[in-house]
Amino acid sequence: MSCTIVVDGFFGDGGKGKIVSYLAVADDAAVVARGGVGPNAGHTVVKNGVKYKLRMVPCGFVNDRTLQLIGPGVVVNPEVFLKEIEDTDIADRVGLDPQCAIIEQKHIDEDRRGHLKEKIGTTGTGTGPCNADRALRVAKMAHEIPELAPYIKDVPLLVNEALDKGENVILEGTQGTYISLYHGGYPYVTSNDVCSAAICSDVGVGPTRVDEVVLVCKAYVTRVGEGPLEGEISHEEAKKRGWDEYGTVTGRQRRAAPFNYALAKRAVMINGATQIAVTKLDILYPVCAGKNSYDDLPDEAKAFLAEVEEKVGLPVTLVGTGPGVREIIDRRD
Ligand code: GTP
Ligand code: IMP
Ligand code: MG
Repeated sequence: MSCTIVVDGFFGDGGKGKIVSYLAVADDAAVVARGGVGPNAGHTVVKNGVKYKLRMVPCGFVNDRTLQLIGPGVVVNPEVFLKEIEDTDIADRVGLDPQCAIIEQKHIDEDRRGHLKEKIGTTGTGTGPCNADRALRVAKMAHEIPELAPYIKDVPLLVNEALDKGENVILEGTQGTYISLYHGGYPYVTSNDVCSAAICSDVGVGPTRVDEVVLVCKAYVTRVGEGPLEGEISHEEAKKRGWDEYGTVTGRQRRAAPFNYALAKRAVMINGATQIAVTKLDILYPVCAGKNSYDDLPDEAKAFLAEVEEKVGLPVTLVGTGPGVREIIDRRD
C-alpha cells in the first residue's frame, strides 16, 4: 500500500480523523495531506488519552515523523491553522500550499446570516463564502499572508515526491459523500465536492497514483444541519441508543438514523472505494469496546459486519472499537 485516500460514506463525522491517525501510525506514513473544504470539518483524535479537535491540521500528527500538508483545494483560516500547530506541536513538519484560499472575517459574517444560516444550517465558519470568492477570482491566497510564510510549501510536489520514493501517503478527506456539492442533495450540501476524486485534485495527486480508497462508514448514520435523513429517529430515541452526538465545530446535536446500506453502496461507487472502515461498532455493541481482534467480537457484531460486506459489496478491513488511535481491529492483509 502506498497511496490511500480516506473519505466518508455518509454525511461526515464518521470518524475519519481517528482512522487517518491509526493508518499514519500503523503504516508509518511519510505524509498525510488534507483535502476537503476547510475548517468546517472537525476531526477528533484521541492520543494518549488527550482529545484533539482539529479543523485544519491533518490527523497524522500522532506519528512524530509524518509530514502534515494542506492541499491547494482547501480554504484556510490562518488563526485556526496557527493555533492548531501550537496545540499539536508540529511547527517543524507542517505545510500549506501557496494557493490555499484564505477565509476572512467578511466570509464568516456572511456565513452566519441569511439563507446560509437559516436554510442550509452551515457551520458558520466562512468556507462557502470563501469558495464563492475563489470562484469569482477575488479571494486572498495563502502566499499573501505574512504569518503563513514559514509554512508555505509546494504540496503537490512534496506528495508526489514521497510517492516516487515508495513511501506511504494518506490523503485525508473531510465531510461526507452526501454533503458533497455534486453528490449530495443540493442545496443542503457543503461548498465543494468532497469525494475521492476531489480529494486527489485538492492535493494535486493524479487518480492513476491512488492504490486504496477507504470508505469510512459509522455503524449508524448522523447528519448535522438541514436536509433529508432517511430513517431519522427522535433525539430521545438517539439518546437511548447512545447515538446522540454533538458537532465538533458547532456543538449542535447531530440527527441520527440506522446504518443505510443503499447509501453506503452508492458511496462505494462514487468514490471507487476498495475497502470499508466501520467505526463506532462499540456503540452498537458495547462489549466490543477496545477490542483489537475480530475473533473476540460477539456473534451479533460479526453478523452485522458480514451484512455490511454482503450488501455493500466490499470487505470491511478496519473496525473502530473506541475513540483511541489503537482502539481498532485491522483485518488488512
Ligand atoms: P468530519 O471531517 O467533520 O466529517 O469528521 P470525522 O469523520 O473525523 O469525525 P468526527 O471526529 O467529527 O466524529 C467522530 C467521533 O467519534 C469523534 O468524537 C471520535 O473520537 C469518535 N470515534 C471515532 N471512531 C470511534 C469508534 O470506533 N468508537 C467510538 N466510541 N468513538 C469513535
Ligand atoms: P458548510 O460546509 O459550513 O457550508 O455547511 C453546509 C452543510 O454541511 C451543513 O449542513 C453542515 O452542517 C454540513 N457540514 C459541513 N462540514 C461538515 C463536517 O465536517 N461534518 C459534518 N457536516 C458538515
Ligand atoms: Mg466532524
